[in-house]
Amino acid sequence: MPADGDLGEAAALLRTGGLVAFPTETVYGLGANALDARAAARIFEAKQRPSFDPLITHLADAADLEPLVGPVSPAVAALAARFWPGPLTLIVDRPEQIPPIVTSGLDSMAVRVPDQEHARRLIAAAGVPVAAPSANRFGQLSPTRAEHVVHGLGTAVDLVLDGGPSRCGIESTIVDARGERPVVLRLGALPVEELEKVTGPVTVRPGNSGQPVAPGTLAAHYAPRTPLRLVPGAELADAAGAGRGCLAFRDRPAGAWTAVEVLSAAGDLTEAAARLFDALHRLDAAGVVEIVAEPVPEMGVGRAVNDRLRRAAATWHPASGD
Ligand code: TXA
Ligand code: MG
Repeated sequence: MPADGDLGEAAALLRTGGLVAFPTETVYGLGANALDARAAARIFEAKQRPSFDPLITHLADAADLEPLVGPVSPAVAALAARFWPGPLTLIVDRPEQIPPIVTSGLDSMAVRVPDQEHARRLIAAAGVPVAAPSANRFGQLSPTRAEHVVHGLGTAVDLVLDGGPSRCGIESTIVDARGERPVVLRLGALPVEELEKVTGPVTVRPGNSGQPVAPGTLAAHYAPRTPLRLVPGAELADAAGAGRGCLAFRDRPAGAWTAVEVLSAAGDLTEAAARLFDALHRLDAAGVVEIVAEPVPEMGVGRAVNDRLRRAAATWHPASGD
């Protein structure tokens, strides 16, 4: 866990244009001062991220939103009041002070308040909004532990704060609630069912257009280096074999696998989400030639888990883009 001195050093680095990887409740973020175009540019460089993929700006407190962006719509205000701090990213109009590189030239900006003590203390101490994508190279598995960041980004980062494993383990849900009916741009750790309790029915539209508004919604994304194939749970045993790794939801699969990861023996979707990327990182390191994964139940945060699995599989089967 980071000591106060580490947080102070990290905050100072952020203020002076440095790159700091920090824990959030969803996944680890790669942070830079969102008011500093050069610092933001370093994020794109370190991640090898295409410049068309905008960043999420992180605030220490929900009360910091309107001073930065001005008045927001009633639906945005209601969602922020209900779910911040927490795994929800809201789309707002980009304010003047945020340089266009942060939003890839869009007039809109994605913003959230993480529910992680070290993250909020870091952002508060830095005294600036913090632009932070997930702290992995573009298209690869998201990091849910400090060691994933060190392994994936290495010396491209000035400092990595270790806050232990991420509680949710899957990225925030992204919602554009500026119009009539809210639109979910990326399924994530906050289930759609929870959102709808506040806003009424929403439209779910993660990356179904030719030009993705949220590249976390590109058909191929969140991918391990090992090819991943999705098969129904009932067919898992048939897919077993030496050199293969299995990602199962609840039951230990039959058959001779080289490596097996069970996401939640209790059948708990929240636990499964929390363990998803960690399990994929381990299977990727197990030296298997293929990862065979079963989908989890398509409800609650399970929808976001399946979304990640489909995108990981799509890397190797590009025809299946949605
Ligand atoms: O949980 C999370 O959201 C994590 C932690 C670190 O906060 N961050 C994260 O960032 O997942 P990233 O960069 O990996 O994904 C951000 C997504 C991208 O798909 C991006 O396209 C979308 O947010 N996004 C950013 N600004 C946007 C905007 N103005 N309109 C639509 N989508 C936007
Ligand atoms: Mg990401």
